[in-house]
Amino acid sequence: MSSYQLDLTRRPRRTRRTAALRTLVNETTVQASHLIQPLFVIEGDGPPEPIESMPGQFRRSIADLLEECKELAGLGIPAVALFPKLDAAVKADDGREATNPDTLVLRAIRALKQTVPELAVIADLALDPYTTHGHDGLWDASAQDLANDPTVEVLCEMAVLAAEAGVDIVAPSDMMDGRVGAIREALDGNGHQKTAIMAYSAKFASAYYGPFRDAVGSSASAGTPHLDKRTYQLNPGNRREALLEVALDEQEGADILMVKPAGPYLDIIREVREETDLPLAAYQVSGEYAQIMAAAERGWLDLERCRDESLLAIRRAGADMILTYFAKDVARSLAGVPSDAPLGA
Ligand code: PBG
Repeated sequence: MSSYQLDLTRRPRRTRRTAALRTLVNETTVQASHLIQPLFVIEGDGPPEPIESMPGQFRRSIADLLEECKELAGLGIPAVALFPKLDAAVKADDGREATNPDTLVLRAIRALKQTVPELAVIADLALDPYTTHGHDGLWDASAQDLANDPTVEVLCEMAVLAAEAGVDIVAPSDMMDGRVGAIREALDGNGHQKTAIMAYSAKFASAYYGPFRDAVGSSASAGTPHLDKRTYQLNPGNRREALLEVALDEQEGADILMVKPAGPYLDIIREVREETDLPLAAYQVSGEYAQIMAAAERGWLDLERCRDESLLAIRRAGADMILTYFAKDVARSLAGVPSDAPLGA
């Protein structure tokens, strides 16, 4: 080896030399306590239904949901986000099943709060699981668009029903204007001052939601594989508009803000983190999960390392908490429990 030597004061590699030194200077962690597991629930008492485009994810009956949630709580995961998959027979143009006081997701919330009360439950507020067209709100045929204010009225009703069922957090995912303020008012007006709002604040019109729409059946019901939500979800190229949405949700009383998707929008997560002192969530969506799973199935990527790196990047960008389909598997790895994922170690 040559004796060539640079005259350097700074040698950043010094603190990377051993595992112990790397641990000391580590800046970002992913713990089970940062993770929220999204879960799909179905009617009946059949076995869990695998979701084809999301290997390792299932639609579960309420009974199976309870078992899964006990395990998640035991692994230190603080919260789950519930998404109902409804039978086509109860879907309607106006999504009226959403305000049935005994609808599937409300029964799931009640059962969960009774059985695993320590686990925080998040209920999504949007009409897409309930409408025949798969849009998140009420469709105005003459305008060929969603009707903003009438949709907000329904979301308020859904929020109050979820709060009555015992939900900890409601999460409007619809992107209608003014919904956070209206929901806060409706909750408070009905004695639910303690129910928190996690606002899907910067939700982009993303192609990465595809597998989720398979999971809840909102794409098939629309009769098109590319349900177009661009009159309400954000243009993926618009960062200033994303910051405007975030500022409005904060003013309207959101308790937690969210950026969605996560991985392709790390710059937005960082900017939001710097603009607000509120807790910030990021949603690693179905397509981000599917992408990693598919490449790992082909042997092209290392599942666990890509999974962990994708989540670390989201935390480093500034997210306090991450909604991710990997939540359980990561918590298991951290706890030293063998994975039950399809390609798990
Ligand atoms: C709809 C909703 C979507 C997701 C969560 N809530 C999809 C959409 O906007 O069409 C996507 C989640 C995911 O892809 O994992 N209100």
